[in-house]
Amino acid sequence: MGDPAGIKRQYRQFAGTECKGYSDLYYRLAISVSEDDEMAGFIADMPETQPNLFLASIQLLTGPAGMPATGSELRAFVKRRGSDVRAAMRARRTQTNEVGRCAVLLPALPPGPLALVEVGASAGLCLLFERYHYEFGSTRLGPVDSLVRLQCTTSGPVPLPPAVPRIVWRRGLDVRPIDVHDDDAVRWLLACVWPEHHERRRRLEGAIDTARADPPVIRAGDLVDDLPAVLAEAPDDIQLVVFHSAALSYVSRERRQAFAGLLADASKRRDIVWLANEAAGVVLELTAPAPSGSLRFLVSRTHFANGQRRSELLALAHPHGAELAWL
Ligand SMILES: C[S@@+](CC[C@H](N)C(=O)[O-])C[C@H]1O[C@@H](n2cnc3c(N)ncnc32)[C@H](O)[C@@H]1O
Repeated sequence: MGDPAGIKRQYRQFAGTECKGYSDLYYRLAISVSEDDEMAGFIADMPETQPNLFLASIQLLTGPAGMPATGSELRAFVKRRGSDVRAAMRARRTQTNEVGRCAVLLPALPPGPLALVEVGASAGLCLLFERYHYEFGSTRLGPVDSLVRLQCTTSGPVPLPPAVPRIVWRRGLDVRPIDVHDDDAVRWLLACVWPEHHERRRRLEGAIDTARADPPVIRAGDLVDDLPAVLAEAPDDIQLVVFHSAALSYVSRERRQAFAGLLADASKRRDIVWLANEAAGVVLELTAPAPSGSLRFLVSRTHFANGQRRSELLALAHPHGAELAWL
């Protein structure tokens, strides 16, 4: 049994930094867990206790419209369907594949042609930059007939490219790759979208349909142990970009160091650009203080050449890509 007091703190923090002003429903439910010994005890018993995993497991069973709306409904649901919630939490991991993040990564990409590797790719939907339509204020990029429209509010000198760079090769790497043709896996991806976020759900469905027409290759494996084999597949003569979003946070500090060390080592053979879109403190090369207030990801870029690295913090990004503040 884990520590119910720690669960209460974890859910209170999730409510305050990730849900407040963004999802009234998840705010209410997370606060209710933070005040409920029984619910905190239930979650503490699970191997992974993340709020997103718990709430997505419930949504998997209810659908977005049937999600419990209050703390007492949540408690009643868990009483009734506790064994199903446990089974979902044991079988699944948080795998939110948020295509909105393409909008905050796009301005950080070097000019094409590019070879892309995404670690922690989930279904690989963030590898499909050129298949989406972007709206940065009055600047529009990408195919107008795309099934996916990404709206991103910007501030600061965002270096918007004249066009989405040409991508000539791409690979994902994920410890549990999601196959967009697997209906059960797709149901899980949809359950990871918060219930009131109808626009996010619509664009995820659009991205899944887009990917189904020509899915990216996602290798199954660990972002440290299996990265060298994926890098070895990349074409030699094309600028290689290795990137990730909300993924490096799932591994320990030592593994993050090992990941950056692998890129430095690989750069003795070829230059590599590393893009990260992660919560503050995840990319160890960045020393900037964590932004205060609601959760913001840090978009950073590191150039690796001849084993040397040069890192720059570029921007603060909304975790689901709705806003981008260039520094
Ligand atoms: C929250 S999802 C983010 C998915 C995607 N990057 C995005 O931003 O939409 C995190 C992903 O990282 C993967 N992951 C976690 N630990 C990993 C590891 N050690 N190696 C590879 N992938 C990992 C998970 O399976 C999951 O698909």
